[in-house]
Amino acid sequence: MLPWYAANKRDLPWRHTRDAYRIYVSEIMLQQTRVGAVIGYYNRFLQQFPTVQHLAETDDDTLLKMWEGLGYYSRARNLKKAAQTVCKEHNGVFPTDYNALRTLSGAGAYTAGAVASIAGEQRVAAVDGNVLRILARVLAYPHPADEIYKNVLTDFLTNAYPMHGCGDFTQSFMDLGSAVCLPAQPLCNDCPLHRVCEGHARNLQNELPVRPQKAARKEEQRTVFVLRRADAIGVRKRPATGILANLWELPNVLGRLSEQEAVQQIETLGGRIEGAFTVRHCKHVFTHVTWHMTVYDVCVQGDCPDLLFTDPSDPHGKALPTAFRICL
Ligand code: ADE
Repeated sequence: MLPWYAANKRDLPWRHTRDAYRIYVSEIMLQQTRVGAVIGYYNRFLQQFPTVQHLAETDDDTLLKMWEGLGYYSRARNLKKAAQTVCKEHNGVFPTDYNALRTLSGAGAYTAGAVASIAGEQRVAAVDGNVLRILARVLAYPHPADEIYKNVLTDFLTNAYPMHGCGDFTQSFMDLGSAVCLPAQPLCNDCPLHRVCEGHARNLQNELPVRPQKAARKEEQRTVFVLRRADAIGVRKRPATGILANLWELPNVLGRLSEQEAVQQIETLGGRIEGAFTVRHCKHVFTHVTWHMTVYDVCVQGDCPDLLFTDPSDPHGKALPTAFRICL
């Protein structure tokens, strides 16, 4: 794996540093998000928060603005909490030890393993879905890769770690998973593991890994209001718990309202409608729920006491999650 990595590794911004803080930020962003989508966010985030102290001291609006569009916003909040812990309990020096990393908000086994091996050269594996796929194929693993088997495979890989080059070893699996050991039609002829891969030997690479049964995603109808006043639109803070907690949102209600019901709802918010509605339909898929949104877009006058009117194109304005931004 190491010679393959030396010849084939991707040139990524977090691979030009040994700074554990920067590597930690990259790994948190890379949870649930593709490399291509992360690069710009990573560079901007570290320009805004060049040290762990900067991040620990930021206000939530600035923090969430830097995260806007990346999704899974609890990651941003956990990142700030982790920075505060590092400042308080580690003298501002970001830990590189697996067990110390595990105590930080947002660091599961994968993230702690990645940072400990990449920044700390510790012999610990980081097994995400991509690495799991490689291991399931190499071992022709007959079980679905649920949490229990993930632990088994993580232990297996940890035992295979080299004495030197632990960070490269970790990242070699990430790159192999993204370029060669693909979910569909893996490129087995280009694979450095093809001679030791039991899945390949038995021609099972397309059947593996065995998929766990997934719970069905809930489908939800929502009605969303784009209430416009000059260049501004009405937004409000979401509740402190549940999906998109504490983020800004367009006013919305559960269910699919008729135009008449929508008028009533806008009046309840305090708006007097000016001119005609535009109606659109948008869809946003979260991990556990899909929102099917009917969007009523209209100019209003009058006080809307629960709404703040803000320009959505202002880069210093309120961060609006993608689920609502697509409604504009
Ligand atoms: N995915 C998660 N961590 C990664 C890393 N360090 N390099 C490339 N892809 C990744």
